[in-house]
Amino acid sequence: MTATVPNFTDIHCHIVPGIDDGARNVAESVEMARQAVADGTTTLIATPHQLGGNRHVTVAAIQQGVANLRTQLEAAGVAVTVLPGADVRIEPELPRLLKCGDVLTLGDHGRHVLLELPHDVFVPLEPLLATLRKQGLVGILSHPERNRGIIANPALMADVLRAGGLLQITAGSLLGHFGSSCRKIAEYAVRQQFVHFVASDAHDTQQRTFGLRDAFAAVAALADERTARLMCCEHPARVAAGEAVGERKVAKSPAAQTTGSSWFRRRTA
Ligand SMILES: [Fe+2]
Repeated sequence: MTATVPNFTDIHCHIVPGIDDGARNVAESVEMARQAVADGTTTLIATPHQLGGNRHVTVAAIQQGVANLRTQLEAAGVAVTVLPGADVRIEPELPRLLKCGDVLTLGDHGRHVLLELPHDVFVPLEPLLATLRKQGLVGILSHPERNRGIIANPALMADVLRAGGLLQITAGSLLGHFGSSCRKIAEYAVRQQFVHFVASDAHDTQQRTFGLRDAFAAVAALADERTARLMCCEHPARVAAGEAVGERKVAKSPAAQTTGSSWFRRRTA
């Protein structure tokens, strides 16, 4: 474990109360925020589910939920910044819904969209990512290590990166909370330098919590501390600020992927 752990920014958590399968009420939200702060997090992007089975979750409801939560956290003396966002199920109408403002981008900055695949199937993302790019948006695929298609064929992650997508793995996956298969894929993704973000995807105070401090240590052990800072701190902070995030050049062949020649080229867009 490193001696000095930096401040974390968490780009994926379900802390807005009573809106999805995350925090059930304000008390649980406040306790989640306390846990996040104790873990070293200073900024949270609240990302309730949108689309899929959560079509009832509107942008207005998320904005209002975040505003209310900020008030509650201030009253409770919990010092953490909370920004609005969404964890968006991939579906054909997504680009149109983004364009007309019915789906939230991360931090509501109009730059990054957090994309969720169904767990049991992989869908090629090239067409969607290309369409989003034309709209000035970058797609971030959440927890690829928990998708069955990717578990069966981890090289699909490189396809997402080549198509201009960014990847976010879940802290708990690196810690074994989702089983050995997810852990292996998450570790593979870190070693292959595929990962831009580690986030909590926290849902509650007991089962699906934050764990970024432990994940930071896991990434530092798998790669190095510089990599851990990029994945857990610097890249997430850039998303929270609405800034571009460094992208990988992904080699065209699996053999070339092992040369390790290309890390974190900064985007200028
Ligand atoms: Fe999520």
